[in-house]
Amino acid sequence: MRYAVLGTGMVGRTLGGRLIELGHEVRLGSRTSDNPAAVEWAAAAGAGADAGTFAEAAAFGEVVVNAVGGRVALAALEAAGAENLGGKVLVDVSNPLAFEEGELRLSPVESDSVGEQIQRAFPHARVVKTLNTVNCLVMVDPARVPGEHQVFVCGEDAGAREQVVALLGEFGWPARRVLDLGVSGRHAPWRCGCRCGSA
Ligand SMILES: NC(=O)c1ccc[n+]([C@@H]2O[C@H](COP(=O)([O-])OP(=O)(O)OC[C@H]3O[C@@H](n4cnc5c(N)ncnc54)[C@H](OP(=O)(O)O)[C@@H]3O)[C@@H](O)[C@H]2O)c1
Repeated sequence: MRYAVLGTGMVGRTLGGRLIELGHEVRLGSRTSDNPAAVEWAAAAGAGADAGTFAEAAAFGEVVVNAVGGRVALAALEAAGAENLGGKVLVDVSNPLAFEEGELRLSPVESDSVGEQIQRAFPHARVVKTLNTVNCLVMVDPARVPGEHQVFVCGEDAGAREQVVALLGEFGWPARRVLDLGVSGRHAPWRCGCRCGSA
């Protein structure tokens, strides 16, 4: 399968590298087409790996992985282009980390989330949040942590969640260790205030 991995940091390069090892094709996306980290990654990762802008990567990918900082995720995805995201599974592994009042915090948290922001901004993308709770080395090799630890998926599209559960399986997460939390909080009645989930 063709993957766009948006983000040239450790997470993007780690996920991209494992996808290549699994036999997929990956275009690593960046703000510029000649990002040195992306070019170096593509050369080292071998056949099936290349690099480009966020838009070039998103156009290439059948599945898009968002691996930029949560606070800049919307900017990166706007650069990727809504036309390159529509109908595609968009795997969001980002965290919106911010220093606030001298502390490292998630912002937004509780009342909103990056996954929800992305789904609102790109309603035709099939957003699935996952893997953001574990280190990137564990994302692609869960056996690094002994025991029956778990990872979650959530998002509005059940078929997209299923596809991501299959991808997690390729990374080494057996289905019994994937918690499907279902629809993201946007339509959860305790969050949106509607009565959609009431009996
Ligand atoms: N480190 C972990 O193990 C871990 C675990 C769970 C979740 N996460 C999450 O994974 C994500 C990626 O983390 P990371 O440390 O690999 O990378 P990062 O340093 O958070 O992000 C690097 C990417 O962000 C892009 N970027 C920076 N500023 C931007 C802006 N203003 N507009 C658009 N794009 C911008 C960079 O673009 P250029 O390529 O153009 O420089 C680069 O591709 C984060 O959300 C992080 O919270 C990390």
